[in-house]
Amino acid sequence: MTDASPTNEQLAALLAYCREMNLTEFFRSDDVPLQPVEAETAAHASAAHTERPMAAATPLAAPQISMPPNADHLASLNRAAPTDPPLPPAERAAALEAIRQEIGDCTRCPLAFEGRNHIVFGNGDPNAELLFVGEGPGADEDQQGEPFVGRAGQLLNNMIAAMGLAREQVYVANIVKCRPPKNRVPEPVEALTCSPFLFRQIGVVRPKLIVALGATAATYMLGTRSALSLLRGKMHECLGAQLIVTYHPAYLLRDPRQKAETWKDLQLAMRYLNLTPPKRPGA
Ligand code: URA
Repeated sequence: MTDASPTNEQLAALLAYCREMNLTEFFRSDDVPLQPVEAETAAHASAAHTERPMAAATPLAAPQISMPPNADHLASLNRAAPTDPPLPPAERAAALEAIRQEIGDCTRCPLAFEGRNHIVFGNGDPNAELLFVGEGPGADEDQQGEPFVGRAGQLLNNMIAAMGLAREQVYVANIVKCRPPKNRVPEPVEALTCSPFLFRQIGVVRPKLIVALGATAATYMLGTRSALSLLRGKMHECLGAQLIVTYHPAYLLRDPRQKAETWKDLQLAMRYLNLTPPKRPGA
């Protein structure tokens, strides 16, 4: 558990970081516009240098930056194929653990201060050929510290089983490792801060194929804001692996009609990985 109240230093660092990333529109979580970043930072600087007790200052929620990623944000992530040779399979679990240790009790982005219970690192086979990327932990994942363990996770497990695999044979992770409050879409500063760790995990696992689940995963994995419908049905390249895009299981729970389309995407994945679906009993 992390303390919900960020220190002034943490907020100042966050605001400086946001400014570097050209994220300049800030809103309180109750949607009341804040002062522009410069004034906000100055207010904090002067608070630190006057006798005014901190308790008298207006408490500041971690900023909610209501904007989609722009082209510069998306281009700032390096999705090139790794240049270093793959790690020997026996060393990959330890390499993943080292990344987890480096993340520590992370306070690198606003999600650290939004009521997170667990950082959800990702799990599965460190040598998996198939790796799924979701958006971010939901309530169940935040409670348990593991990705895709709630209702959407059950559906993902069924999708994996339909491909003839067990969940333990694949690797599963998310664009952000901390739950966005009320399951909102991660803000650019959150996704851009967190996803380099995911990319390093992928560099350790070296899957043959990545499946991006939903628009957020597709946007940050591919660096494009194209519609899902334009990205589905073809192979893309990302981090030296092939990547396909399909619907997010949570979306399929809301609109089960898209399950047939999703199955087409999974069949594309199966063809690429030479997988055959398990025989149904009696078939
Ligand atoms: N939705 C996601 O995108 N990821 C999870 O881990 C769970 C639900």
